[in-house]
Amino acid sequence: MLVSDLDGTLLGDEEALGKFAKWVAKNRSTVLLVYATGRFFDSVAQVIRTTRLPEPDAVIGAVGTDIYDYPSGEILKQWHEQVKDHWDPQVVRRVLRDEGALELQGEEFQSDFKVSYYIENATLREIEAFKRRLQAASVNAEMIYSSNRDLDFLPAGMNKGAAVAFLASRWNITPENVLVAGDTGNDRALFEQGFPGIVVANAQPELKAITGPNVFRAQQSYASGVMEGIQYCWEQR
Ligand code: GLC
Repeated sequence: MLVSDLDGTLLGDEEALGKFAKWVAKNRSTVLLVYATGRFFDSVAQVIRTTRLPEPDAVIGAVGTDIYDYPSGEILKQWHEQVKDHWDPQVVRRVLRDEGALELQGEEFQSDFKVSYYIENATLREIEAFKRRLQAASVNAEMIYSSNRDLDFLPAGMNKGAAVAFLASRWNITPENVLVAGDTGNDRALFEQGFPGIVVANAQPELKAITGPNVFRAQQSYASGVMEGIQYCWEQR
């Protein structure tokens, strides 16, 4: 089960993506392909239509808060069941409404399970204060800061890594048969479930900071880095 982020990981170098697509076509019968991205389904389907990005088996979208079948786009309702009674995105927006440093992202980036803002170059102290305000209002949120710009609030327990663990267990795939790949902060959670993982060379500092025996730091960027990791972690074993 190969799980990769899209923007900045598989997307970013068209020629390398072409090579990745060829590798997938050759190995399609033994690889389950999953994209784990901040995008929603329609946006993922659009990049698949307009680039050489191969068709996956499933899409983990909206930073891990949605799991969709591909190509149907059907949403896995069970994933939402566990949080829907404890989470209201409007409460998050209300509590953080008067935070002048936060700029709400466009409505096209918001959903029932994801509230996203822009805040450039925020310090850890600054963003921890937002979390404390939410806790004081009894909101239990996961807070994810990526690329020194994007700040997402998700229901506690939901992130890309938890979604992969959920899907792997549904498909009866053991953790050592999963390989994850990413480049920014919202990919951190992919590396926190014990799966082997690839950090591409062009990754942001927040992801490069990840270390551990299961973390492969690729020398190459974008899809070439993913291919390098596949060769190192899978093809040689
Ligand atoms: C994607 C989403 C955005 C989110 C970011 C980081 O760009 O569109 O809403 O903040 O990923 O997770």
